[in-house]
Amino acid sequence: MVKDRRGRGLTDLRISLTDRCNLRCTYCMPKEVFGPDYEFLRKSEWLTFRELDDLVEAFVQLGVRKIRLTGGEPLLRSGINKYIYGLKHIHKIEDIALTTNGLRLAERAGELKAAGLDRVTVSLDALDAEIAGQMNGRGIAPRAVLAGIAAAQHEGFHVKVNMVVERGVNDGEILPMARYFKERGITLRFIEFMDVGNHNGWKMDRVVSGQEILEKIQSEFAAEPIDLSSQGEVAKRYRYADGSAEFGLITSVTQPFCRGCTRARISADGKLYTCLFASTGLDLKAYLRADDYDSAKLLQFLSSHWVQRDDRYSELRTQGGTDRKKIEMSYIGG
Ligand code: GTP
Ligand code: 5AD
Ligand code: SF4
Ligand code: SF4
Repeated sequence: MVKDRRGRGLTDLRISLTDRCNLRCTYCMPKEVFGPDYEFLRKSEWLTFRELDDLVEAFVQLGVRKIRLTGGEPLLRSGINKYIYGLKHIHKIEDIALTTNGLRLAERAGELKAAGLDRVTVSLDALDAEIAGQMNGRGIAPRAVLAGIAAAQHEGFHVKVNMVVERGVNDGEILPMARYFKERGITLRFIEFMDVGNHNGWKMDRVVSGQEILEKIQSEFAAEPIDLSSQGEVAKRYRYADGSAEFGLITSVTQPFCRGCTRARISADGKLYTCLFASTGLDLKAYLRADDYDSAKLLQFLSSHWVQRDDRYSELRTQGGTDRKKIEMSYIGG
């Protein structure tokens, strides 16, 4: 397996299928910035599914076993079912997951299951309609998303829910969300609000630490950590003592996990990013579309790029002084 300068392998590939989204979450695509004049990628700029297959084949040879499809909102890209079906048949891929806002999941869950998708992660920040509506920037109450989660669970998916916690905004929703998903046996992950992108007004004092979240949960429920030494896990996992469910803490601000970061990300227009907080990506589309394209050369190209990788933004953030321009989360996926 290919290893970077810090000895990290490459096991996990995240593919953004579009930079568009039908929500405008304040922490990701604030509507003041991502308004009617915002220039999203044109469809002609997207990699085709065929090109993505070529890339995935190469990444598998470098060690990738897990694929996550993200966006923007990946369910806005047409043809995704057939694409998943094809991916499922690429040798050595063990796991295909999807990150979605869940708005359309109720009507799509069955076909995604039939296509061979393994796992679904749904973003939801509050049960309270007003708070959820404010955070998703569209005033949309969580009803449709909750129906989507239920439908996915009914189809037999292992569903996880991601909640970004922001102080003074939805920290009052930590316990209601914990209760709701615990009762349904669904894994809820609390994510520290991060300084991704350039527009979400991030400030350290708006971050609720994983430790604080844990204390809040333990004030109501007995819970114990799941001892996990598995590489590449971003969440610290806990189980409720009554065995009803698990929950997770994603502490990328207060306890960075760069040391175990084995992920690569591809934007919808075919740029490779080796960190969520990168400023620039490697243009793979030009490579794939060149007249002298050759799969062996692509493999070599990707491999030599990974070998030079030295990313550890979250570790550096804690040491201060990281104020350069970054890519947007909606462009690269979560
Ligand atoms: P699985 O292990 O495949 O279930 O996925 P995951 O645990 O990585 O979950 P997911 O992709 O849903 O990630 C959850 C959130 O964690 C993301 O939306 C980000 O906010 C954050 N996150 C994920 N990967 C990284 C990473 O590499 N670096 C940082 N800083 N944050 C990350
Ligand atoms: N901080 C933390 N997580 C974020 N996400 C998007 N923006 C942020 C941010 N500023 C993550 C959420 C969401 C996924 C698509 O991206 O987890 O579920
Ligand atoms: Fe859309 Fe997800 Fe970003 Fe929210 S977090 S705006 S649902 S891409
Ligand atoms: Fe990986 Fe970059 Fe996140 Fe660190 S900050 S865990 S290197 S994506």
